Order: sequence, then structure tokens, then C-alpha cells
Amino acid sequence: MSCDKQSNSKSSGNNSNIHKHGKEYLSNNKMEDLHLYESKNSKKDKLSRLHHPVTVYVDDSLDITELVKQTGTDSGEATLMLTGLHTCGSLGSSLQNMFINSSRTKVLCYVSCCYHLMNEEFIKAPFIDGHEEEKSGFPMSLFLREQEVGLGRAARNFASQTINRPTSELKAKSYPRSLLQKILYDITGHVDDGWKGLRKLDQKCKDMYQYVQKAFKKLKLPTDKITPEFVSEYVERYKEEEKKLAIFLQIKSLLAPCIEAIVLLDRYLHLLEQDCTTDVKLVQMFDPVISPRCHAIVAYKE
Ligand SMILES: C[S@@+](CC[C@H](N)C(=O)[O-])C[C@H]1O[C@@H](n2cnc3c(N)ncnc32)[C@H](O)[C@@H]1O
Repeated sequence: MSCDKQSNSKSSGNNSNIHKHGKEYLSNNKMEDLHLYESKNSKKDKLSRLHHPVTVYVDDSLDITELVKQTGTDSGEATLMLTGLHTCGSLGSSLQNMFINSSRTKVLCYVSCCYHLMNEEFIKAPFIDGHEEEKSGFPMSLFLREQEVGLGRAARNFASQTINRPTSELKAKSYPRSLLQKILYDITGHVDDGWKGLRKLDQKCKDMYQYVQKAFKKLKLPTDKITPEFVSEYVERYKEEEKKLAIFLQIKSLLAPCIEAIVLLDRYLHLLEQDCTTDVKLVQMFDPVISPRCHAIVAYKE
């Protein structure tokens, strides 16, 4: 409040300048503001001449030189640098292949993310349902391909998680889902990979009973056995298991950086294996608490 008042009184003082000095209608402060505004605007103009946004789906077959030509600004001689911040799934591996296949691209710098969205060569995605599968993004290096290394979706999912943000609670977010799974197993006698539509359902329910009810309805299973007493008996019986699950998940999370390291080192190695690269680096760029996917892959060509 006091700041506002001060600035108001200042500006009324400046208004008297306007009448006295005709052309010098702005105070020194305002002149500075104007210069700043003009210089910002000319920078903006410059940037808009240099900046040509294009929206395309990127895969290994994209010819970056052709794309640059389409902007109408290509001299045909300039060298190119490919960058990508948080390139989901196979977008990272596609960028890397584009860099290798384009003789005009001399520098690559990108940060990977969302490893769970990648396809693997040696472990097929479980939910393809006959749709055409994207090209595999893992493994890329000859070294891992020769050994037919696979990670699987669960491990890749894990590698995409955040472990650097401290938490005071020892809680297993997935506990309601695990308990539901136990009830489903006890009632139906099996666990079905095709059971879908349960994601985050527990967050929309006020208690475990409502969650189990809704889940059974979604899966089109009979709900006659699902009574409040039946569910609360399970909650009581497995009370202690929630802590054990939380501890298990914390121990498991220690492996997450190892899985991410496998993906990143595979990409790094793939670049080292190319004759065209002169230098390849894996650099930590960000504070992992702020941005958990914080490593950039940087490569240079002659
Ligand atoms: C995690 S976001 C990062 C966005 C932005 N770079 C940032 O850091 O805020 C990844 C973006 O890449 C886009 N994307 C993923 N795969 C792609 C592909 N193959 N071709 C083009 N865009 C893609 C997604 O739609 C999403 O907008």
C-alpha cells in the first residue's frame, strides 16, 4: 500500500513537467522506461524474424534440413544445432537419430524424460492391441542390442519418478490399489491384465468401501459380496501391511536412478559408437529437486 502511494505522488509531480517542457513530456524515469521498451521491442522484432515455430510429429524419418528449408530462411550453408527439453519417450531417441543422419547438424543437446512412453526392441509393449507400434527407442547402442537388453514398462515407469524431493511421510500411495487387487483375487480367483479403467479411481472415492464398490462395477463384476463389513474386515486385517508396502516402495525407489542411468548411458554410448561424432557428454544441467530429469546429452560433429 505505502509503495503505491509513493509512486502515485511521484507521477503527479512528473505531470507538471509535461506542461512546462512541451516535448520533454516524460520524466527521466519514464524516458528510461521508453528506451527499455524500444530496445525490448527491437529484440522482439529480431527474435520474430529468427524464430519460426513449426508443429510436426517427430520421428526418425524426419529430415531436419527439409524442415528448415520450409521456413524460407535457409541459406543452405548454415550448420544446425538440435535441442530438446524434456523430450518424452522416443522423441529423445528420434532426435538423436536425426542428429546422426543429418550432415548439416553439428551439435545435439537434449534432456530426456517420460521413459515409460518409450518402446523397446526386446520387450513388446503390453497394450498395443494390433495398432502399429512406433520404432523402438531402447536399446540404441550396439553394445546393449547385441545382448538383447530389455527393461520392461514397470522399470521404465519407475525410472520416470522423482526420488530427490524429500518427504516426511512414509506412505504408500498405491496401497488402496494393492488392497483392491487382493480382494479381486480372493473373489474371482485370478488377476487379469485386461482390467482397465481403475487408474486414480481411489482418489475419487471417500473410503475403501466406495472404492471397491466402484471398481467392481467398472470391471462389470458382481457386487453382492461387497458390503461395508466385508471391506472393513480387509482394511483391519491388512492394516500393518501398508507400512511394509511403503518401506518396500522406498527401497525399490533406490533403484530408479540405476534404471534411468541405463537409458541415458545407452544413448550416450550409441553416440560414441558413431564415426561422425567428435565429442559426447552427459551433463547434469538442473537441480534434481526442481527438475528430476536433469541430465543433458550433448554431442558434437566435425
Ligand atoms: C514433457 S513435454 C516438454 C515440453 C517443453 N519442452 C517443456 O520442457 O516444458 C514434451 C512435449 O513433447 C511433445 N512430443 C512428444 N513426442 C513428440 C513427437 N514424437 N513429436 C513431436 N512432439 C512430441 C509432447 O506433446 C509434449 O508437448
